[in-house]
Amino acid sequence: MKKLQLISILLVIILASLGCQRNKTSQTAGFDPRVEPLLKKMTLEEKLGQLNQFSNPYISTGTGETSAHNENFDEMVRDGLIGSFLNVLGAEETLRLQKIAVEESRLGIPLIFAFDVIHGYKTMFPIPLAEAASFDRAAMQQSARIAAVEAAANGLNWTFAPMIDVSRDPRWGRIMEGAGEDVYLNEQAAIARVRGFQGDDLSAANTIAACAKHFAAYGAPFGGREYNMVDMSERMLREVYFPPFQAAIDAGVATFMSAFNTIAGVPASADRWLFTEVLRDEWGFNGFVVSDWTSVEELIEHGIAESRYEAAWYGLNAGIDMDMMGRLYLDYGKQLIEDKKISEQQIDDMVRRILDVKFKLGLFDSPYQYSDLEKQEELTLHPEHLEASRDIARKSIVLMKNDLNILPLSKDIKRIAVIGPLANDKDAPIGNWRGSATPNSAVSLLEGMREAVGDRAEILYSEGTSLTLNEQQGFFTQLDYNTTDRSGFAHAIATARSADVVVMALGETAYISGECRSYADISLKGLQLELLREIRKTGKPVVLALFTGRPLVLTDVVEHTDAILNCWLLGSESGHAIADVLFGDYNPSGKLPASFPYHVGQIPVFYEQLNTGRPFDPNPFEFSSMYRDIPNEPLFAFGHGLSYTTFAYSDLVLTNDTITMSESITIKATVTNTGNYDGEEVVQLYIRDVIGKGVSRPLLQLKGFEKIMIEKGASKEVAFTIHPDDLAFFRLDKQFAPETGKFEVYIGTASNNLSLKGEFELVE
Ligand code: NOJ
Repeated sequence: MKKLQLISILLVIILASLGCQRNKTSQTAGFDPRVEPLLKKMTLEEKLGQLNQFSNPYISTGTGETSAHNENFDEMVRDGLIGSFLNVLGAEETLRLQKIAVEESRLGIPLIFAFDVIHGYKTMFPIPLAEAASFDRAAMQQSARIAAVEAAANGLNWTFAPMIDVSRDPRWGRIMEGAGEDVYLNEQAAIARVRGFQGDDLSAANTIAACAKHFAAYGAPFGGREYNMVDMSERMLREVYFPPFQAAIDAGVATFMSAFNTIAGVPASADRWLFTEVLRDEWGFNGFVVSDWTSVEELIEHGIAESRYEAAWYGLNAGIDMDMMGRLYLDYGKQLIEDKKISEQQIDDMVRRILDVKFKLGLFDSPYQYSDLEKQEELTLHPEHLEASRDIARKSIVLMKNDLNILPLSKDIKRIAVIGPLANDKDAPIGNWRGSATPNSAVSLLEGMREAVGDRAEILYSEGTSLTLNEQQGFFTQLDYNTTDRSGFAHAIATARSADVVVMALGETAYISGECRSYADISLKGLQLELLREIRKTGKPVVLALFTGRPLVLTDVVEHTDAILNCWLLGSESGHAIADVLFGDYNPSGKLPASFPYHVGQIPVFYEQLNTGRPFDPNPFEFSSMYRDIPNEPLFAFGHGLSYTTFAYSDLVLTNDTITMSESITIKATVTNTGNYDGEEVVQLYIRDVIGKGVSRPLLQLKGFEKIMIEKGASKEVAFTIHPDDLAFFRLDKQFAPETGKFEVYIGTASNNLSLKGEFELVE
């Protein structure tokens, strides 16, 4: 008995001490040892100052007018009332402000300078959706690395990227900023980009902190309308929208940003479950969270807070550490503590997290290392950066159609006509979220093609129709594109007639996609389709070079083309990269990261479907899951992308028929280049969990991909290793874990073209 008592006393002591330790570690685990002593010296006002972020009042990346115009920033920095700036750019100005913070404020706490370095700082890379089409992890990492090098040399320490919101709705303009519809691809992009921005050592002068945004589910607004409500099951959140954020944490992301939207009625920026229970308690995230631009203040508009005071409480209580542009914590933090609505301890936790990131960035040790005029001069737009941009751009191009192998074009074709509003557009390819890029600085398609052929061929040009906004028609920009002026048609038709082949440059300009660029109609704008039809009538072969920030509905377009090259918005080197592909100097290897709908009515459109109780049956008299007027399938499926060569898949081998929960399985296939060009193939592995116990499982889920180069005539074996954790899902018992049972395995070239099939069983 005595022994038992002793054991239980001991147990209580051990558990109690463990509990204490856990509390302690959760607050300070891995934190720089200098955080705590510094925190002790800070006044409450100084602590609240750290939670406060302002924008350069002359650059707005949020809602127009802000009170920031009236602030005396220098004075506030001196008083320790600002923790961070966004949109303050350049070595000179960042250095000036940093010096005030470090040399003139009481405790000398450095500022952290943030900016939306989304797809490049000055050297622009493909928009993230395009880059995801490369299915090339190294490319994604490299572009983020270079963006960080340029940004850091320009005084920045923190980017609001990567955006890793899964999106299955191309009406939503910000689909351009993520990796598309798939969970695994978004995870891989998250890892690559976080690694790229942050490098191996966050304290180095050429690395910057990344920010996983927008937590959570911002990519799923109802109707695709920007900032709109989101409502979905916890299963959908945990299986689709959360995993890229968990992957970012695993890759070491330093910060998170909260989303603008509500989820099930709760605005994300007030959601304690999201930011405290899931992000910190469940996932152990120790970095800090920044709100989106005034998203805490907007809790008033959301109708959950009556006043700025209440909004501040919601944000603090949820665990939003830094308030972007709201000034709420500074204005109401003290009062909230006095009113015992929040504790100083809560504020301390937030300050700790922010200080720790500043220590990790090396800002205390070398506060001026980022603001270096010489480096800024030397590294910005470095020729090697432009070279990398060209390479990544061509890897991102997707050959969507190539009838009769009309592409690649020979450089000896006598006359090539380049026609369309985007043919000589040097701005569209820079895309939205263009960092600090110079407007009109991209290589246009026309320039790229002329350079590629030199004197060998004549490249003719005609704009045909314009995409210029007609501002008189007001705000509704979908109505603004020229729909009446056909004066350029005759010249375009004559140009086409005199050529041997026509390259049509159609699609979207830079700001048709991006934040607050939702469109209900995502077909070609203005008179572009009409122009295409007219050109088609000339009987000349037509190649469409499509410029776009989102999947478009191309159903009426496809029939008027012989080939379609999806050129997205590819960045500074766009024209060079497209010419490389058009003339066969690079064999296209990109694959679609998001389905291109057949009709806007299919949206949300994605491959990861459940079977339903009445799967599609071609017999129209059966009551099956179908549209009566259109196919169920998108026009171009996720993972689709052609090459100038062809690939054959064979010899599927699974190392086991059965694996246990602690084993993994290797799945191999042989891919043979059966065509006439060397080329890269993105080998895709999908899995189906055949029977979910009480929960229906998707027909296909991407679980692996490898991009491999195969010379013509050669074969290569590709191997994937799958661990039971890769098969986990949010089960009926609310555990995120794998379940025993049968799994089907598919390997192939696109989600709708999987020629190899096998199966294995997972047992206890
Ligand atoms: C609003 C956007 O939603 C967010 O992604 C961005 O980082 C901020 N503005 C700051 O520019």
